Order: sequence, then C-alpha cells, then structure tokens
Amino acid sequence: MPGVGQSGPVTDQRSVAIWRDGVAVAVPAEEPVVTAADQGLVRGDGAFESVAVIDGATPHLADHLARLVRSAALLEIPHPGDGVWRALVDAVLAEWPTGTEGVVRLLLTRGPGGGAPPTALALLAPVPAETLRQRSTGVSVVSLSLGVPADFRSRAPWLLGGAKTLSYAVNMAAYRHAARLGADDVVLTSLEGQLLEGPTSTVAWAADGTLHTPPLDTGILAGTTVARLFERADAAGWPTARTAGTVDDLHAADAVWLLSGVRGAAPVHTLDGVRRGDAGLTVRVRELLAG
Ligand SMILES: Cc1ncc(COP(=O)(O)O)c(C=O)c1O
Repeated sequence: MPGVGQSGPVTDQRSVAIWRDGVAVAVPAEEPVVTAADQGLVRGDGAFESVAVIDGATPHLADHLARLVRSAALLEIPHPGDGVWRALVDAVLAEWPTGTEGVVRLLLTRGPGGGAPPTALALLAPVPAETLRQRSTGVSVVSLSLGVPADFRSRAPWLLGGAKTLSYAVNMAAYRHAARLGADDVVLTSLEGQLLEGPTSTVAWAADGTLHTPPLDTGILAGTTVARLFERADAAGWPTARTAGTVDDLHAADAVWLLSGVRGAAPVHTLDGVRRGDAGLTVRVRELLAG
C-alpha cells in the first residue's frame, strides 16, 4: 500500500485513500487526488466528518456516518453509501500505528461536475499536539457573534443549518480572531446573544444539577459527542436539557466545556477574559465519555 504508514516522525504521518472506480484506493499522501475543477475545492461545496481514531479503531464511526448522510441530503449531493466510507476508513487505517491517536477526515464533494460522480476520500492524520494540550489543560474562550437570529436558520434552508459543510473559512477566521484576542477558542452567539456552538465544537455547561447544551433549531450542528455524553449522563441520573442560554449563563455555570469527537471535553478555564472553574465536574464528564 504505497504511501500508507511510511516511516518517519509520527507527526508528519498522513494516510490518504480515495474512492475510484468502485474501490478504495490508498494513495501516497503527497499525491494530488482531486482535479482543480472539483467543486469542493472551487466552492467549498461538500460535506465532511472528523472521526476520532483511538487504539487503531473508530468506535464512533456509525454516528459520524449518520450525520454525513444528513449533510449530503441537505446539500443535495448523492451519498455514496456507508460501505464506501467504511472501505476508505479501513484503507487509511491499514498501517496506522495503534498507539497514535488520529483523526480521519471523510470528505464528500460535489465533484468536478459534467456528470462525474461526487468525490469521496479519507485523510488520516495524528491529533494535533495543541488539541491534546487543550483537552488536558482546558481552553480560554471568547464569545463572538455570528450575526444571525437564533431562530433564522431553521427557516432558511439555503443557510444549511445542521449540515457539516466543507465551507469552514468563517469558522477558521473566528479562530484567528480569537488568537488575536489572546484566546484559544470561540463560543459563537446569535444576533440576540443566544449561545450557538464553537467553530468546531459543541458548547455544554453544568448548572442547577443539570447538563445543558443549546437547542438544535438554532441551526447548530448535532454533535455526536454531546449526544453520547447526554445519553450516558441521563442513564447515570445526571439530568440533561437543551437550553437557550446566553454568555451570562456560562459565566454563572458550575462548569463549561467545548465538546467534540477529537478533543473530547475541553474545560473552559477563561471566558471573555474572566477566569472560571469546573467544580470538579470535568472528571465525571470524561468518565462518561470514556469507552
Ligand atoms: C461546528 C461544529 N459543531 C459541533 C461539533 C462537534 O461535533 P462532534 O461531537 O460530532 O465531533 C463540530 C465538530 O465536528 C463542529 O465542527
């Protein structure tokens, strides 16, 4: 399998596989795999998933594949079927060292057009060191407005609320803005100041003995990690709720986390320049998410 699992520093390691002529083909990581006309490249017209690789496996793949089906439907891109993604994941994992935590990006684009099929490919890379650091030591966060009313995206299908699209330029710009303000991450809010999500994470907070996260009708992404956490918390007797909160609610909360499949639960230790604690609850959240 050329290019997969070649020797060299783990941090430089990448594995790539593309769906071609009905099979998953592993290709050298530095080899071009899409044409310049691919609409994923030209317009960011596509969907993706970031799937955690733990101990050489993808335990939460099914949840991500379910969301990719929904994203493809919202974008009106033909979905190639879960078997394609499973074959691509197997191809990139084939020679991955079990001890290296990774992230597989599954990319589905509209393709180059002209009757060509959508592009489906997988890219596996190690989890960035900075993500690992934030997971253990927490994050400083600033709140930034997305400028959209909280109830708008649910009645504006052209805004693709709830779809995990490839168009993350705004999300990445929010990170750069946060960095200029001296922060690690962002909590996006609606025009009226209602909590939405992070650029690549779900916001959750603990208050009044309950775990809270914003409602999905705000157009945020349905996070697979928060779904898993809430299901397990409910089962363990820790109530959960979808709550229309504000940044003030986060300041008043016992703990605040940014959640995602790759980062797990990163406790927010600073919000808009104000230090805050986690009341010892992060340990409990991590226990629930483990396994
Ligand atoms: C915008 C956005 N919200 C939420 C999440 C968290 O989703 P998940 O828990 O499925 O990783 C992500 C990460 O993929 C994201 O990009």
